[in-house]
Amino acid sequence: MSVLEEIAEQIRGCTRCRLCEGRTQAVPGVGPEDAEIMFIGEAPGRDEDTQGEPFVGPAGQMLTQLLAGIGVDRGDVYITNICKCRPPSNRTPRPDEVEACREYLDGQIAAIRPTLICTLGAPALKTLLDDATLSVMKLNGTVLERHHLTFVPLIHPAAGLHQDRMRQPIQDGFRRLGEILTELR
Ligand code: URA
Repeated sequence: MSVLEEIAEQIRGCTRCRLCEGRTQAVPGVGPEDAEIMFIGEAPGRDEDTQGEPFVGPAGQMLTQLLAGIGVDRGDVYITNICKCRPPSNRTPRPDEVEACREYLDGQIAAIRPTLICTLGAPALKTLLDDATLSVMKLNGTVLERHHLTFVPLIHPAAGLHQDRMRQPIQDGFRRLGEILTELR
């Protein structure tokens, strides 16, 4: 069993926080073990909790489309969340829940060793960069180097499902990500 599979097994049996009580199943992550890019969202929603895979609901369809728009196949990237279990009524994960899951996330990053980590939404940005003052709107589509890792913060695709005015900034962030990838290659 690979390190990533071992982590996934631990996540599936995890009882470190209260979110284990309401879940249908935990959602460890999906994608190649040697993915160049990792996408890290907030937490599973209803569809993800049912299917055991991240970003398979409406936000996931949006993500798949945005990736296709910059020539990236969803199957080539690793996708996960800062929290692996669905919070009740899709509320934002609480700090102790994020903390309980942190070791799994750090383990996944260490196992995959991606060239680029794209955070989706404010909670993922603040958690991964350990800085609650960061603004995803300001940093959308920029490159940040921290902890010997390279991050590109992006606005969460789900924001575009709720607010039309967010669609353009979301697309702008992904367009910049496309440019960053072209420069890297
Ligand atoms: N939103 C997230 O942040 N993660 C998912 O897996 C689905 C929706």
